[in-house]
Amino acid sequence: MALTEPLVREDFVVQSSPDVSPPKWHLAHTTWFFEEFLLAKNSALYKRYNPEFGRLFNSYYKALGPHWLQSERGVLSRPTVDEVFNYRRNIDEQVLAHLEKTVWSDEMAFILELGLNHEEQHQELLLMDIKHNLAVNPIETRYSSTSLPRASTVKTEWREFAEGVYEIGDVGDDFSFDNEKPRHKNYVYPFALSSTLVTNKEYLEFVESGSYLKPELWLSLGWSWAQSTVHKHPLYWFKKDGAWFEYTLHGVEALDLEKPVVHINYFEADAFARWRKLRLPTEQELEIYLDANLSSEDSQFFHPTDAAAMRGQVWAWTKSPYVSYPGFKNFEGAAQEYNGKFMCGQFVLRGGCVATPRGHSRNSYRNFYLPEQKWMFAGIRLAKDLK
Ligand SMILES: [Fe+2]
Repeated sequence: MALTEPLVREDFVVQSSPDVSPPKWHLAHTTWFFEEFLLAKNSALYKRYNPEFGRLFNSYYKALGPHWLQSERGVLSRPTVDEVFNYRRNIDEQVLAHLEKTVWSDEMAFILELGLNHEEQHQELLLMDIKHNLAVNPIETRYSSTSLPRASTVKTEWREFAEGVYEIGDVGDDFSFDNEKPRHKNYVYPFALSSTLVTNKEYLEFVESGSYLKPELWLSLGWSWAQSTVHKHPLYWFKKDGAWFEYTLHGVEALDLEKPVVHINYFEADAFARWRKLRLPTEQELEIYLDANLSSEDSQFFHPTDAAAMRGQVWAWTKSPYVSYPGFKNFEGAAQEYNGKFMCGQFVLRGGCVATPRGHSRNSYRNFYLPEQKWMFAGIRLAKDLK
């Protein structure tokens, strides 16, 4: 709710692309998750707030019946924003009343924790989507009234790692998603990762040297995409009177050359790495890098600037397809559809970004997107082989 405070009523309903959801939908959907999976699942007597809301605010849980199309979320003027606020208040109160009165089963405690983590995921999605909704409008609107701090130059170092067996995955200290489990061994060849993310300056050289017109730099699917897109540069960049600008949540800014490049897709990240005669890291390499540089204690109590700089102000694309770990098991019961069914055709991103809620990132955290998507806060950390 706090994240939507800068919005006006009309902002809540806009859906600027099929991938983006209206802010109103995020607010209702995260509340629906608690209503459906916690309140309705645990009492046959539970009376739903509005029986139609399941159809409108179920995202993709096919076992729960038919649901509204994702690409059509923006056509719904009803329920109104006020009704959605009321829905949230009502369900929050019922969940809190449950917390006080009910003896919680392990299953209910798990769903509550999952629901909170789900809501944290949607906090980041909300900011991504608000940015897209506001950016498409030629009337410049600032989400944040604060000014964007300028980046300072940081020296790039190559952090080297020896060949060997490394353990990857959930360490079991705290909540984690099913896709981070089980912890398992990986054989890794010697590699090095850059201590810094690729900057706007580096990416601008790639753009201005005509790389989007050089097929030798691109994967086959990437080349088809590069030819079809009008954005032959990061999503929110634009050129005016010979100078580059970028739309940000703080409004339009002159492109800050020292900042990490953001809002590029997998094809662009991969082509950039090839242009530099380097490569994208695997997700295992990135986790090993984070484990070596950032303990899980830091992630609990991190100093925002340190950990944000380390894990990244932007998610780093990896070359790893999003697939299951050896021994993977879906969450059981209602949450079975949460992660596992998306393990086809997507790539893993690691780290976290400026919009990730504090405490929601982990070294083992696996984010994933389709290779052509670029509206999330995604950038590049380069890797190289050492033999
Ligand atoms: Fe969701």
